[in-house]
Amino acid sequence: MLDRRIVILGSTGSIGTQTLDVIERLNTAGCKFEVVGLSAGRNIDLLIKQIEHFLPLVVSVAEEEDAKSLHGRFDDLTVLSGSDGLEKLACYPDVDLVVNALVGAVGLAPTLAALSSGRTLALANKESMVIGGELVTRILREKEGTILPIDSEHNAILQSLHAGKHEEIERIIITASGGPFLNTPIDKLEDVSAAEALHHPNWSMGARITIDSATMVNKAFEVIEAHYLFDVPYEKIEPVIHPQSVIHSLVEYVDGSIIAELAASDMRIPIQYSLVYPERVATNLPRLSLEEVSNLSFEVLDMVRYPAFATVVAAGVRGGTATAAVNAADEVLVKRFLRGEIGFTKIAEGLQQIFDSWEGRADVENEDLSLARILDIDGWAREQAAKLNL
Ligand SMILES: NC(=O)c1ccc[n+]([C@@H]2O[C@H](COP(=O)([O-])OP(=O)(O)OC[C@H]3O[C@@H](n4cnc5c(N)ncnc54)[C@H](OP(=O)(O)O)[C@@H]3O)[C@@H](O)[C@H]2O)c1
Repeated sequence: MLDRRIVILGSTGSIGTQTLDVIERLNTAGCKFEVVGLSAGRNIDLLIKQIEHFLPLVVSVAEEEDAKSLHGRFDDLTVLSGSDGLEKLACYPDVDLVVNALVGAVGLAPTLAALSSGRTLALANKESMVIGGELVTRILREKEGTILPIDSEHNAILQSLHAGKHEEIERIIITASGGPFLNTPIDKLEDVSAAEALHHPNWSMGARITIDSATMVNKAFEVIEAHYLFDVPYEKIEPVIHPQSVIHSLVEYVDGSIIAELAASDMRIPIQYSLVYPERVATNLPRLSLEEVSNLSFEVLDMVRYPAFATVVAAGVRGGTATAAVNAADEVLVKRFLRGEIGFTKIAEGLQQIFDSWEGRADVENEDLSLARILDIDGWAREQAAKLNL
């Protein structure tokens, strides 16, 4: 029987709520998963429901005011707040597994804290690897720690990697659905609305990642994430458009064999694999019917349709704080698009401009990479992206 004590950072979000659903299923299937800690940003009503249901020992919230009101409501609960609270929760004692389901750069410090204190990390927060890949892998090596990726593509790669040795990998192939605008005429892209961009054909996800899937920034982030998670050079990681999202990614070996993972498009499947790794448990999650799928297709990723992909991968290859700059800029530009301030195609234009300005800064050569330095560039890029005249 699997027996694990678990902390979930970002329990009120899309991945966080699905993780709690999986935990209930696992416990129904005879496992013993104990929820020790939860964290929310501002959705305190949902956090209260989660506290009442899962009875954690400790929670963390973004605002101190919310922490005070929770403290008054639940006598025996330890309530933390702010980024300091997230870091404390990430290395809370007597915990087997920390799930990082936060969105954005705020996820990096807790990732570093969890790994530094020897916790196994189930990682959905891709920004941790995108902006902090070098730091995260350094700590991972020092502490001989483990990251179990929740992102469906990396979870599929992890599963496919069991079929061969690291030196036998020829290439990693990351699938991309193409998002809602795969077949939209390119000259119409500047006029698409936020509502259209938020309508992902296959997955139901948080707002930012849905827009990032439409621009293909998300796929570029996944390339960077795969580079660090699996220690594979960029030239061996390739995207391919696969509109059905049935194959979640593939690994090709030197003998020409390609190993893929296929499953229903339901994030609870990779979430569960990361919670029970290396076991498998039957929990009645949706199944894939090959007869219903009937047809799998693949296309080359069109760089004219998705210009942001090349910009973000170039930032990954450049290394240092380049990825912190493009990630922060993307967060701001996506918000500006959702508010109707800029058109859809301006997200890619803005990203290229911020990457160019980052290259133009004298202080980025030979910089000493640290969390403080990453957050400094993050702040700079946010300011720049907010005032770009697009
Ligand atoms: N959703 C998916 O299917 C999916 C798939 C693959 C990878 N991912 C990755 O998983 C991560 C989470 O995505 P998501 O879609 O679950 O995002 P989401 O629905 O927006 O949830 C984000 C969570 O982080 C919390 N949060 C946000 N800002 C915070 C802050 N400043 N301080 C403390 N907590 C904060 C939110 O709290 P409140 O809601 O309470 O404010 C919420 O619990 C992202 O990195 C995403 O790229 C997601």
